[in-house]
Amino acid sequence: MTAEIVAVDAASPDPEVIARAAATLRRGELVAIPTETVYGLAANALDADAVARIYAAKERPAFNPVIVHLADTSDLPRVAREVPSIAHDLMRRFWPGPLTLVLHRQPAVPDIVTAGLDTVGVRIPASEVTRALIRTAGVPLAAPSANLFTRVSPTTAAHVARQLGDRLSMILDAGPARVGIESTVLDLTRTPPRLLRPGGTPQSDIESVIGPVERSMAASGDAPRPSPGMVERHYAPRTTLRLFESARLDEVLGVAERMRGHGTRVVVVTRQGANAHGAGIRFMPDTVDAYAGALYSMLHELEEHDVEVAFVEQPPSESAWDAIRDRLRRASTSD
Ligand code: TXA
Ligand code: MG
Repeated sequence: MTAEIVAVDAASPDPEVIARAAATLRRGELVAIPTETVYGLAANALDADAVARIYAAKERPAFNPVIVHLADTSDLPRVAREVPSIAHDLMRRFWPGPLTLVLHRQPAVPDIVTAGLDTVGVRIPASEVTRALIRTAGVPLAAPSANLFTRVSPTTAAHVARQLGDRLSMILDAGPARVGIESTVLDLTRTPPRLLRPGGTPQSDIESVIGPVERSMAASGDAPRPSPGMVERHYAPRTTLRLFESARLDEVLGVAERMRGHGTRVVVVTRQGANAHGAGIRFMPDTVDAYAGALYSMLHELEEHDVEVAFVEQPPSESAWDAIRDRLRRASTSD
Protein backbone atom coordinates (compact mmCIF):
# COMPACT_ATOMS: atom_id res chain seq x y z
CA MET A 1 0.00 0.00 0.00
CA THR A 2 1.24 3.49 -0.82
CA ALA A 3 -0.61 6.37 0.73
CA GLU A 4 -2.32 8.82 -1.54
CA ILE A 5 -1.22 12.35 -0.58
CA VAL A 6 -4.11 14.76 -1.11
CA ALA A 7 -3.60 18.52 -0.83
CA VAL A 8 -6.45 20.30 0.97
CA ASP A 9 -7.05 23.97 1.61
CA ALA A 10 -6.41 24.52 5.34
CA ALA A 11 -9.16 27.16 5.67
CA SER A 12 -11.88 25.73 3.40
CA PRO A 13 -11.29 22.06 2.64
CA ASP A 14 -12.92 20.53 -0.43
CA PRO A 15 -16.00 18.61 0.84
CA GLU A 16 -15.39 15.88 -1.73
CA VAL A 17 -11.91 15.16 -0.37
CA ILE A 18 -13.24 15.21 3.19
CA ALA A 19 -16.03 12.78 2.24
CA ARG A 20 -13.52 10.38 0.70
CA ALA A 21 -11.23 10.51 3.76
CA ALA A 22 -14.25 10.02 6.05
CA ALA A 23 -15.33 6.95 4.08
CA THR A 24 -11.79 5.55 4.35
CA LEU A 25 -11.88 5.97 8.12
CA ARG A 26 -15.33 4.41 8.38
CA ARG A 27 -13.99 1.35 6.55
CA GLY A 28 -11.48 0.97 9.41
CA GLU A 29 -8.47 2.25 7.46
CA LEU A 30 -5.86 4.80 8.55
CA VAL A 31 -5.66 8.42 7.40
CA ALA A 32 -2.92 10.91 8.33
CA ILE A 33 -4.53 14.16 9.49
CA PRO A 34 -3.21 17.70 9.82
CA THR A 35 -3.45 19.37 13.22
CA GLU A 36 -1.99 22.63 14.53
CA THR A 37 0.55 20.66 16.63
CA VAL A 38 1.83 17.76 14.51
CA TYR A 39 0.31 15.43 11.91
CA GLY A 40 -1.70 12.58 13.46
CA LEU A 41 -2.22 8.97 12.38
CA ALA A 42 -5.99 8.63 12.69
CA ALA A 43 -8.49 5.80 13.01
CA ASN A 44 -12.11 5.56 14.14
CA ALA A 45 -11.72 5.74 17.95
CA LEU A 46 -14.77 3.53 18.52
CA ASP A 47 -13.43 0.69 16.33
CA ALA A 48 -10.89 -1.39 18.27
CA ASP A 49 -9.64 -3.19 15.14
CA ALA A 50 -8.98 0.11 13.39
CA VAL A 51 -7.09 1.47 16.41
CA ALA A 52 -5.02 -1.73 16.50
CA ARG A 53 -3.83 -0.82 12.98
CA ILE A 54 -2.40 2.44 14.37
CA TYR A 55 -0.22 0.53 16.85
CA ALA A 56 0.89 -1.87 14.13
CA ALA A 57 1.76 0.91 11.66
CA LYS A 58 3.75 2.86 14.27
CA GLU A 59 5.32 -0.30 15.75
CA ARG A 60 4.17 1.15 19.03
CA PRO A 61 3.59 -1.01 22.13
CA ALA A 62 -0.03 -1.15 23.29
CA PHE A 63 0.68 0.21 26.77
CA ASN A 64 0.54 3.72 25.27
CA PRO A 65 -2.86 5.40 25.40
CA VAL A 66 -3.91 7.35 22.29
CA ILE A 67 -5.50 10.81 22.27
CA VAL A 68 -9.13 11.03 21.09
CA HIS A 69 -9.93 13.98 18.81
CA LEU A 70 -13.38 15.59 18.68
CA ALA A 71 -14.86 18.28 16.42
CA ASP A 72 -17.13 19.98 18.97
CA THR A 73 -17.50 20.05 22.76
CA SER A 74 -21.04 18.71 22.35
CA ASP A 75 -19.38 15.38 21.38
CA LEU A 76 -17.58 15.12 24.72
CA PRO A 77 -20.23 13.02 26.52
CA ARG A 78 -19.70 10.27 23.91
CA VAL A 79 -16.20 9.60 25.25
CA ALA A 80 -15.93 11.16 28.75
CA ARG A 81 -18.08 11.19 31.89
CA GLU A 82 -18.15 13.15 35.17
CA VAL A 83 -16.48 16.10 33.47
CA PRO A 84 -15.49 18.60 36.21
CA SER A 85 -16.31 22.30 35.90
CA ILE A 86 -12.62 23.25 35.57
CA ALA A 87 -12.55 21.15 32.40
CA HIS A 88 -15.29 23.35 30.95
CA ASP A 89 -13.33 26.48 31.93
CA LEU A 90 -10.25 25.11 30.13
CA MET A 91 -12.24 23.99 27.08
CA ARG A 92 -13.82 27.43 26.72
CA ARG A 93 -10.42 29.11 26.83
CA PHE A 94 -8.17 26.69 24.92
CA TRP A 95 -10.29 24.57 22.53
CA PRO A 96 -9.88 24.20 19.67
CA GLY A 97 -6.18 24.12 20.45
CA PRO A 98 -3.10 22.27 21.73
CA LEU A 99 -4.43 21.06 25.10
CA THR A 100 -5.33 17.42 25.84
CA LEU A 101 -7.48 16.78 28.91
CA VAL A 102 -7.37 13.40 30.65
CA LEU A 103 -10.90 12.64 31.88
CA HIS A 104 -12.91 9.62 33.10
CA ARG A 105 -13.81 7.58 30.07
CA GLN A 106 -17.10 6.26 28.76
CA PRO A 107 -17.31 2.46 28.43
CA ALA A 108 -17.89 2.96 24.66
CA VAL A 109 -14.21 3.88 24.28
CA PRO A 110 -12.34 0.64 23.56
CA ASP A 111 -9.59 -0.51 25.94
CA ILE A 112 -7.03 -0.33 23.17
CA VAL A 113 -7.49 3.46 22.94
CA THR A 114 -6.85 4.01 26.65
CA ALA A 115 -4.33 1.19 27.17
CA GLY A 116 -6.85 -0.31 29.58
CA LEU A 117 -6.97 2.80 31.80
CA ASP A 118 -10.25 4.13 33.16
CA THR A 119 -9.38 7.53 31.70
CA VAL A 120 -9.25 8.99 28.21
CA GLY A 121 -7.18 11.85 26.76
CA VAL A 122 -9.35 14.19 24.66
CA ARG A 123 -8.81 17.31 22.60
CA ILE A 124 -10.35 19.40 19.83
CA PRO A 125 -7.65 20.24 17.28
CA ALA A 126 -7.59 23.69 15.67
CA SER A 127 -7.43 22.34 12.11
CA GLU A 128 -10.58 23.10 10.08
CA VAL A 129 -9.70 20.15 7.85
CA THR A 130 -9.62 17.65 10.68
CA ARG A 131 -12.72 18.99 12.38
CA ALA A 132 -14.62 18.80 9.08
CA LEU A 133 -13.36 15.23 8.71
CA ILE A 134 -14.51 14.24 12.22
CA ARG A 135 -17.97 15.75 11.60
CA THR A 136 -18.33 14.02 8.25
CA ALA A 137 -17.09 10.65 9.53
CA GLY A 138 -19.47 11.04 12.48
CA VAL A 139 -17.01 9.40 14.88
CA PRO A 140 -14.23 10.63 17.18
CA LEU A 141 -10.71 9.96 15.87
CA ALA A 142 -7.97 8.26 17.83
CA ALA A 143 -4.67 9.76 16.66
CA PRO A 144 -1.15 9.66 17.98
CA SER A 145 1.56 11.57 16.15
CA ALA A 146 2.10 10.05 12.67
CA ASN A 147 5.65 8.78 13.18
CA LEU A 148 7.27 5.45 13.90
CA PHE A 149 7.55 4.70 17.64
CA THR A 150 10.42 6.69 19.25
CA ARG A 151 11.11 8.65 16.05
CA VAL A 152 10.67 12.35 15.33
CA SER A 153 7.08 13.62 15.04
CA PRO A 154 5.92 14.98 11.67
CA THR A 155 5.03 18.61 11.04
CA THR A 156 4.54 18.20 7.28
CA ALA A 157 2.82 15.63 5.05
CA ALA A 158 6.24 14.81 3.55
CA HIS A 159 7.54 13.83 7.01
CA VAL A 160 4.59 11.42 7.36
CA ALA A 161 5.15 9.94 3.90
CA ARG A 162 8.82 9.33 4.63
CA GLN A 163 8.21 7.22 7.77
CA LEU A 164 4.76 5.71 7.21
CA GLY A 165 3.89 6.22 3.55
CA ASP A 166 3.60 2.50 2.84
CA ARG A 167 1.41 1.77 5.88
CA LEU A 168 -1.69 3.91 5.47
CA SER A 169 -4.34 4.75 2.89
CA MET A 170 -4.33 8.52 2.69
CA ILE A 171 -2.41 11.60 3.87
CA LEU A 172 -4.31 14.90 4.00
CA ASP A 173 -1.79 17.65 3.29
CA ALA A 174 -2.87 21.03 4.69
CA GLY A 175 0.64 22.50 4.85
CA PRO A 176 3.09 22.75 7.77
CA ALA A 177 1.75 22.48 11.33
CA ARG A 178 1.50 25.94 12.90
CA VAL A 179 2.48 25.12 16.51
CA GLY A 180 4.99 22.42 15.66
CA ILE A 181 5.06 20.65 19.03
CA GLU A 182 2.52 18.25 20.57
CA SER A 183 -0.37 19.28 22.80
CA THR A 184 0.04 19.82 26.52
CA VAL A 185 -1.45 16.81 28.39
CA LEU A 186 -3.25 17.64 31.65
CA ASP A 187 -4.78 15.00 33.96
CA LEU A 188 -8.03 16.34 35.45
CA THR A 189 -8.99 13.10 37.20
CA ARG A 190 -6.87 14.03 40.20
CA THR A 191 -6.64 17.03 42.54
CA PRO A 192 -4.67 19.15 41.98
CA PRO A 193 -4.62 18.55 38.23
CA ARG A 194 -1.36 17.12 36.96
CA LEU A 195 0.68 18.14 33.93
CA LEU A 196 1.72 14.89 32.22
CA ARG A 197 3.41 16.44 29.18
CA PRO A 198 4.44 20.05 28.53
CA GLY A 199 3.35 21.15 25.05
CA GLY A 200 1.73 23.78 22.88
CA THR A 201 -0.32 25.35 25.70
CA PRO A 202 1.98 26.89 28.34
CA GLN A 203 1.52 25.78 31.96
CA SER A 204 1.24 29.44 33.05
CA ASP A 205 -1.73 29.99 30.69
CA ILE A 206 -3.46 26.95 32.19
CA GLU A 207 -2.74 28.15 35.73
CA SER A 208 -4.19 31.56 34.93
CA VAL A 209 -7.54 29.79 34.39
CA ILE A 210 -7.63 27.03 37.05
CA GLY A 211 -4.85 27.88 39.51
CA PRO A 212 -1.77 25.78 40.34
CA VAL A 213 -1.21 22.43 38.64
CA GLU A 214 1.24 19.78 39.72
CA ARG A 215 4.04 18.70 37.40
CA SER A 216 4.55 15.02 36.94
CA MET A 217 8.09 13.65 37.21
CA ALA A 218 8.23 13.00 33.48
CA ALA A 219 7.02 16.51 32.68
CA SER A 220 9.68 17.99 34.94
CA GLY A 221 12.43 15.94 33.42
CA ASP A 222 13.04 13.13 35.92
CA ALA A 223 12.53 9.40 35.59
CA PRO A 224 10.45 7.29 36.12
CA ARG A 225 7.36 7.83 34.07
CA PRO A 226 4.09 8.35 35.92
CA SER A 227 1.67 7.49 33.14
CA PRO A 228 1.71 4.90 30.42
CA GLY A 229 3.15 6.31 27.28
CA MET A 230 5.65 8.67 28.83
CA VAL A 231 8.53 6.88 27.22
CA GLU A 232 11.84 8.49 28.03
CA ARG A 233 13.57 8.14 24.67
CA HIS A 234 10.99 9.66 22.42
CA TYR A 235 11.07 12.14 19.57
CA ALA A 236 14.47 10.72 18.73
CA PRO A 237 16.24 11.44 15.47
CA ARG A 238 18.80 9.01 14.09
CA THR A 239 21.38 11.74 14.48
CA THR A 240 23.10 11.73 17.87
CA LEU A 241 22.23 14.97 19.67
CA ARG A 242 24.50 16.62 22.23
CA LEU A 243 23.10 19.61 24.11
CA PHE A 244 25.44 22.46 25.09
CA GLU A 245 25.16 25.67 27.13
CA SER A 246 24.98 28.93 25.13
CA ALA A 247 28.21 30.26 26.67
CA ARG A 248 30.15 27.33 25.22
CA LEU A 249 29.32 28.08 21.57
CA ASP A 250 32.90 28.97 20.56
CA GLU A 251 34.33 25.87 22.17
CA VAL A 252 31.71 23.67 20.49
CA LEU A 253 32.34 25.23 17.08
CA GLY A 254 36.01 24.29 17.53
CA VAL A 255 35.20 20.71 18.48
CA ALA A 256 32.83 20.42 15.48
CA GLU A 257 35.52 21.75 13.16
CA ARG A 258 38.03 19.14 14.36
CA MET A 259 35.46 16.32 14.03
CA ARG A 260 34.70 17.47 10.51
CA GLY A 261 38.42 17.29 9.80
CA HIS A 262 38.24 13.61 10.73
CA GLY A 263 35.39 13.03 8.31
CA THR A 264 32.44 13.07 10.74
CA ARG A 265 29.25 14.68 9.47
CA VAL A 266 28.54 17.18 12.25
CA VAL A 267 26.26 20.21 12.57
CA VAL A 268 26.02 22.90 15.25
CA VAL A 269 22.49 24.13 15.95
CA THR A 270 22.36 27.57 17.57
CA ARG A 271 20.13 30.59 18.12
CA GLN A 272 23.11 32.99 18.09
CA GLY A 273 22.98 34.27 14.52
CA ALA A 274 25.57 36.97 15.12
CA ASN A 275 28.17 34.76 16.81
CA ALA A 276 28.58 31.78 14.54
CA HIS A 277 30.00 31.75 11.04
CA GLY A 278 31.10 29.11 8.57
CA ALA A 279 29.91 25.76 7.35
CA GLY A 280 27.85 23.20 9.25
CA ILE A 281 25.84 25.68 11.29
CA ARG A 282 22.06 25.50 11.50
CA PHE A 283 20.42 28.64 12.87
CA MET A 284 17.22 28.40 14.89
CA PRO A 285 14.83 31.25 15.80
CA ASP A 286 15.21 32.85 19.22
CA THR A 287 11.51 33.22 20.03
CA VAL A 288 9.58 30.32 21.58
CA ASP A 289 6.78 30.05 19.03
CA ALA A 290 9.06 30.26 16.00
CA TYR A 291 11.50 27.79 17.56
CA ALA A 292 8.71 25.29 18.27
CA GLY A 293 7.46 25.66 14.71
CA ALA A 294 10.92 24.85 13.33
CA LEU A 295 12.10 22.18 15.81
CA TYR A 296 10.88 18.93 14.24
CA SER A 297 11.70 20.10 10.69
CA MET A 298 15.25 20.72 11.88
CA LEU A 299 15.47 17.22 13.38
CA HIS A 300 14.02 15.63 10.22
CA GLU A 301 16.52 17.61 8.14
CA LEU A 302 19.46 16.30 10.18
CA GLU A 303 18.29 12.75 9.46
CA GLU A 304 17.72 13.39 5.78
CA HIS A 305 21.25 14.76 5.44
CA ASP A 306 22.70 11.78 7.32
CA VAL A 307 24.22 14.05 9.95
CA GLU A 308 25.96 11.82 12.50
CA VAL A 309 26.34 14.27 15.40
CA ALA A 310 24.50 17.52 16.07
CA PHE A 311 25.52 19.86 18.89
CA VAL A 312 22.35 21.69 19.89
CA GLU A 313 22.36 24.85 21.99
CA GLN A 314 20.25 24.52 25.16
CA PRO A 315 17.06 26.60 25.03
CA PRO A 316 16.68 29.37 27.64
CA SER A 317 15.67 28.19 31.10
CA GLU A 318 12.43 30.23 31.32
CA SER A 319 9.25 28.16 31.71
CA ALA A 320 7.91 29.32 28.32
CA TRP A 321 10.56 27.04 26.79
CA ASP A 322 9.53 23.96 28.87
CA ALA A 323 8.04 21.95 26.02
CA ILE A 324 11.00 22.63 23.73
CA ARG A 325 13.51 21.72 26.46
CA ASP A 326 11.51 18.54 27.14
CA ARG A 327 11.56 17.42 23.48
CA LEU A 328 15.27 18.20 23.03
CA ARG A 329 16.15 16.37 26.24
CA ARG A 330 14.21 13.30 25.12
CA ALA A 331 15.71 13.44 21.63
CA SER A 332 19.22 13.52 23.11
CA THR A 333 18.71 10.76 25.68
CA SER A 334 20.72 7.73 24.65
CA ASP A 335 19.68 4.20 25.47
O1 TXA B 1 -0.60 17.21 19.69
C1 TXA B 1 -0.90 16.04 19.95
O2 TXA B 1 -1.29 15.71 21.07
C2 TXA B 1 -0.76 15.01 18.82
C3 TXA B 1 -1.78 15.35 17.74
C4 TXA B 1 -1.85 14.32 16.65
O3 TXA B 1 -3.04 15.56 18.31
N1 TXA B 1 -0.98 13.68 19.34
C5 TXA B 1 -0.07 13.06 20.14
O4 TXA B 1 -0.43 11.79 20.50
O5 TXA B 1 0.98 13.56 20.49
P1 TXA B 1 0.60 10.73 21.11
O6 TXA B 1 -0.14 9.45 21.11
O7 TXA B 1 1.87 10.75 20.37
O8 TXA B 1 0.79 11.17 22.58
C6 TXA B 1 -0.25 10.94 23.50
C7 TXA B 1 0.25 11.00 24.91
C8 TXA B 1 0.55 9.60 25.42
O9 TXA B 1 1.88 9.23 25.16
C9 TXA B 1 0.26 9.72 26.90
O10 TXA B 1 1.42 10.16 27.54
C10 TXA B 1 -0.80 10.82 26.95
O11 TXA B 1 -0.81 11.48 25.74
N2 TXA B 1 -2.13 10.24 27.21
C11 TXA B 1 -3.12 9.97 26.34
N3 TXA B 1 -4.19 9.43 26.96
C12 TXA B 1 -3.86 9.34 28.26
C13 TXA B 1 -4.52 8.85 29.43
N4 TXA B 1 -5.75 8.35 29.38
N5 TXA B 1 -3.87 8.93 30.59
C14 TXA B 1 -2.62 9.44 30.67
N6 TXA B 1 -1.94 9.91 29.61
C15 TXA B 1 -2.55 9.88 28.42
MG1 MG C 1 4.12 10.99 19.62
